[in-house]
Amino acid sequence: MPRGVFITFEGLDGSGKTTQLKRLAAWMQKRGQDPLVTRQPGGTVTGDRIRELLLDSRSAGVAPMTEMALMFADRAQAIAEVIEPALASGRIVLCDRWTDSTEAYQGGGRQLGSQVVLKLHRLICGGLQPDLTLLLLPALQASLDRARHRNDRATQKNGIDENRFEREQDAFYRRVWQKYREIAARDSARIIAIEGDLSIDEVHEQIVEAVSMRLSGQSAES
Ligand code: TYD
Repeated sequence: MPRGVFITFEGLDGSGKTTQLKRLAAWMQKRGQDPLVTRQPGGTVTGDRIRELLLDSRSAGVAPMTEMALMFADRAQAIAEVIEPALASGRIVLCDRWTDSTEAYQGGGRQLGSQVVLKLHRLICGGLQPDLTLLLLPALQASLDRARHRNDRATQKNGIDENRFEREQDAFYRRVWQKYREIAARDSARIIAIEGDLSIDEVHEQIVEAVSMRLSGQSAES
């Protein structure tokens, strides 16, 4: 059984990655593939509890190291319970965020630096890297406006409060953005950065092209 393909989506809050992930999953399903769709933090019972703790704005005063440790605790659980079994059984895994998020948000945004994140990734996640990462980087301000608006609406509608990150100042997000660009430049073989303000259809087309190339490369290798 050839190993499955691990594809992650990255970007700032409000970059449209969740919409794009769903569209890619639908595109794959039409072609008879059955991708496993998951997200970080969350995606397991334990992970969903960690997610609540991390994103609820009532979790006041979470230290940056605590935040990073919880992100990795969540990821370790996801690997054990969901991601590794799916890849081992040959499935494609589509994951909304991975360790690049920890490097961008905790390493960049919270200023913990990349080294500690990458070290923990090796220790806790066995260095499990995606085969392909789609990084969506539309204009910073447009992403922020969308994310804040959407989360306020969700809180009003169903009482779910996942605003702890969105309450951060613009300077925090500027650091996250910078770190994402740094990661993309460092790991250009794995990461496809889709920049600028493109339509949902245009971004989807670029994603399909990148994924098709990756998948055909995969079958050529196996
Ligand atoms: P997510 O639900 O994907 O938010 P969105 O749909 O708005 O992109 O992620 C929740 C938040 O958690 C998001 O603000 C980014 C943050 N995060 C980190 O800070 N570090 C991490 O390692 C991960 C996975 C997420």
